[in-house]
Amino acid sequence: MAKPRAVKLLPDRNSDRPGNDPIFALNAQAQQRKAKGDAVINATVGALLEDDGTLAVLPTVIEALRQVPAQKAAGYAPIAGDAAFLEAVRKDLLGSSSLASIAVSAATPGGTGALRHAISTFTERGQSVVTSSYYWGPYQTIADEHERKVTTFAMFDEQGAFNVEAMKRTLDEVSASQGRLLVFLNDPCHNPTGYSMSTGEWEAVRDALVAVSKKVPTTVLADVAYLAFAKDTQGFLKYLEPIAEHGIVCFAWSGSKGFGLYGQRVGALIACTQDETQRSAVQRALTYACRGTWSNCNASGMEAVRRCLTDAELDPKVRGERARLTALLDRRVQAFNGAAKGTKLSYPRYDGGFFVTVFAKDPKGAMDKLIERGVFVVPGPGSLRVALCSVAEKDIASLVRALDECL
Ligand SMILES: Cc1ncc(COP(=O)(O)O)c(C=O)c1O
Repeated sequence: MAKPRAVKLLPDRNSDRPGNDPIFALNAQAQQRKAKGDAVINATVGALLEDDGTLAVLPTVIEALRQVPAQKAAGYAPIAGDAAFLEAVRKDLLGSSSLASIAVSAATPGGTGALRHAISTFTERGQSVVTSSYYWGPYQTIADEHERKVTTFAMFDEQGAFNVEAMKRTLDEVSASQGRLLVFLNDPCHNPTGYSMSTGEWEAVRDALVAVSKKVPTTVLADVAYLAFAKDTQGFLKYLEPIAEHGIVCFAWSGSKGFGLYGQRVGALIACTQDETQRSAVQRALTYACRGTWSNCNASGMEAVRRCLTDAELDPKVRGERARLTALLDRRVQAFNGAAKGTKLSYPRYDGGFFVTVFAKDPKGAMDKLIERGVFVVPGPGSLRVALCSVAEKDIASLVRALDECL
């Protein structure tokens, strides 16, 4: 074997990266245990599984994917994405909101690509993106990969409500120190907590963001990865509309969950601002960023989603199939809330979405005990993330009992 060399072949930044995403590593561990014949409840996977453990798919979407013409599938898509796909997403997402007429966009590989474009386009190197203290771990990875940082505010106050005061303080601090803001809000159905803001919370968040957008260049990104599973998919837009008067409102749209197309990597960054000159600059910057990263996105995935959104026969079929999956998920949410009543589990208001987060004093210790019992969840600071999207309804009572006994 060659001797280790004194010279580091990798630059410092990349010389000691963690090899595997911790969630994927835990999932692999759960699967190995299952393969050995152990009884396992695997609540790590961020994908919606049927109660029999297979990936939930929307048959009409899969059929549309199969029907993509060979020439379309094999050819390059336009750099910023297929125009008809982007138009369909824009209409579906923004509907009759005033944001629809002031939107520019680019196709991205999943919502992840949209988050990546937002970080690289709307912040300078070394600057921070602001988000809540509970957040999807890859925000940090993407920021780090692009030499940016994540600055957080405490997500909940003592009453368990969204902590708007903490958000305001952080907005003030970060805007004072870096002279511009990029804020990520993952709502509705926040990952990892499952929280969706109330009307009053959205109003207070809106007021704070409008105020700060008058002081420094501000971009607010709504990460809507789970929007298709929310009770109301458009009500929150009115809180974002006034922010586009001074700043930019972005959406990280994803086809992964709503169309069950995780592996096709279909997504889009939609950016809205009233200022026409800035809007054109944003469109050019996004297109440039596409060329400078993945060049162009998956033509087949975009085409299948475009058809599902615009075809008069396919669209209602897809909505019907998705409604079945939403009901499947809702039954699990109800089973969780029901089983957790009277236990010592403490968690934010949870009325829909793929995940819930249970607060834990010693998440690592609890996780070790849970793993011994064949229960796999994802530890985070002061918490355990439970992916109900991947747990059969019949296992939820045992899952809650295990959590209650191990915390
Ligand atoms: C909060 C959040 N945002 C964005 C994404 C992006 O997903 P994708 O890149 O598959 O669209 C995910 C996926 O798990 C997520 O949980």
